Amino acid sequence: MTTVARVPVALGNRSYQIIVGDGLLKQAGALCGELLPGRRVMIVANPAVNCLYGTTVSTSLRKAGFQVANTEVRAGERAKSLRQAAGLYGAFLRNQMDRRSVVIALGGGVIGDLAGYAAATFLRGLPLVQIPTTLLAQVDSSVGGKVAVNLPEGKNLVGAFYQPALVVADVQTLKSLPARQMRAGLAEVVKYGMIADRELFEYVETRLDSILRAEEEPLAHLVTRSCAIKAQVVEQDEREEGMRAILNFGHTVGHALETQGGYHRLLHGEAIAIGMVVATALSMNRGLCERKDLDRLRTLLTRIGLPTKTSVDMNSLLRTVRYDKKVRNQMIYFVLTKRIGHAMLAAISDPGELRAAVRAAWSA
Ligand SMILES: NC(=O)c1ccc[n+]([C@@H]2O[C@H](COP(=O)([O-])OP(=O)(O)OC[C@H]3O[C@@H](n4cnc5c(N)ncnc54)[C@H](O)[C@@H]3O)[C@@H](O)[C@H]2O)c1
Repeated sequence: MTTVARVPVALGNRSYQIIVGDGLLKQAGALCGELLPGRRVMIVANPAVNCLYGTTVSTSLRKAGFQVANTEVRAGERAKSLRQAAGLYGAFLRNQMDRRSVVIALGGGVIGDLAGYAAATFLRGLPLVQIPTTLLAQVDSSVGGKVAVNLPEGKNLVGAFYQPALVVADVQTLKSLPARQMRAGLAEVVKYGMIADRELFEYVETRLDSILRAEEEPLAHLVTRSCAIKAQVVEQDEREEGMRAILNFGHTVGHALETQGGYHRLLHGEAIAIGMVVATALSMNRGLCERKDLDRLRTLLTRIGLPTKTSVDMNSLLRTVRYDKKVRNQMIYFVLTKRIGHAMLAAISDPGELRAAVRAAWSA
């Protein structure tokens, strides 16, 4: 077993720890028992993840004296709906959950967002434990307190800022993760490298083979470092009133690509990979970074197996960007990079500038 890392998220009376290690599912009960007063828990998972890991987690919780119930929700992005949330409220009621009862989100970002939203709203808030099992959820979605469901009109339109009481990231669960999901999660790790940590970027460059083999030691390092960066940003700007927006590096164009693909064609991380290349080209055109930074990013993403450009028509992509949440007063808000490891927020008013960046990004 690798060493266990504890990353604190300091948010006053909403502070919590992210515990990262190998084989932690078996310790879930002891870890929850350390800090939660209630004895009743509900594990929320989709059928596939429940089948893989549900028993390990519930056995561990029972050993620690918890009364455990388990509920399954459908797999996929469509689980993030008000209807599925209502289904969870029903399960909470049937199991006589009260305000001390704990909701455990066991799975990827979809489950974290859905179970988190249900926990945030049922009885005005139940304690939430995130046990993320995808790389994306371990490095990103389980941390920081954003929970949401989708409406037919768009993604994440109904949600809350609701911090978990604990995050338990067991990197051993990533061994069963499909390769495409692993690669998509790595896009977010590369993002942290680009915006805040050159060493993390270089670590992915040098250890990529062992990372893709899902070796515990490099994965634990990636998850710990990524969570520490996210925690630091969230501590300074929990409700995204300012600098938390730097976590959206690559997301302006990334979201537009996801919208165009109807959320099916590209995985989130794949869309972000293309978006990061455009954001870096824009930074280069503004003289903030050099061509070699853009080339290095593109090379790493390609080695990971992520796309760096798309065949989507540029004009329709630019139109979609203009409808994004990040557009206010005709300005498009973008996160740019000032060399690998540094980020800044910028506004773009000239669509021609974005067009030139897309051309530069996709020219190689
Ligand atoms: N709240 C936030 O801050 C935040 C941030 C980023 C993304 N998100 C949300 O996260 C969601 C995407 O999350 P995701 O990429 O984790 O996708 P996901 O939750 O759909 O999981 C991807 C697939 O992997 C499977 N899976 C999960 N863990 C597994 C394991 N260990 N072994 C084998 N299969 C496993 C799942 O069953 C699912 O089919 C989106 O809805 C996005 O909006 C939220």
